[in-house]
Amino acid sequence: MRKVLLTALVAAIPATGFAAGLEDLVEARRGYYKLLGANMGTLSAMAKGDVAYDGAAAQTAADNLKTLTQYNVGHLYAPGTSKADMPGKTRALPAIWEDQAGVAEKGMAYVEAVNALAEVAGLDRADMGKALQKVGGTCKGCHDDYRAKDF
Ligand code: HEC
Repeated sequence: MRKVLLTALVAAIPATGFAAGLEDLVEARRGYYKLLGANMGTLSAMAKGDVAYDGAAAQTAADNLKTLTQYNVGHLYAPGTSKADMPGKTRALPAIWEDQAGVAEKGMAYVEAVNALAEVAGLDRADMGKALQKVGGTCKGCHDDYRAKDF
């Protein structure tokens, strides 16, 4: 479990740069989080009652989040891609590169919450809502420490 979680969210931050431009890398990184936001949006609309609860759609969104926890984001955090390096382009704080253990901890809390969400999302709206709140708390937990408020 631990190994999977670490691979999913922090993985080895590569020591060397990549052929792809750093700006493309940052765009891809932000795109990854936009996928999280899109699936969270589907679920939160149902939890709030803005959209009728649909177990199949909720399960799909939760499964998408779970699938994305398997994506190894390490390569998206190449050196030279923090907000200090690329102001205006990214909100990733330099603390990410300085405190990998801390990021891993936030990442593991997130993965655990997503796994719990995926267990119930398709079964019951109230249970999905509770699990969703926990996931949201872990998103925020990481953002508070590792994402700047603005670009
Ligand atoms: C382990 C840390 C971590 C976790 C967990 C995490 N995020 Fe983030 N998120 C970040 C970082 C870092 C950025 C800034 C990326 C950048 O600007 O390069 C970010 C950026 C974002 C963005 C902005 C993308 C853009 O357009 O620039 C959204 C939306 C987002 N996260 C949503 C979520 C949601 C929803 C969750 C939970 C389901 C989540 N994040 C969980 C670290 C995390």
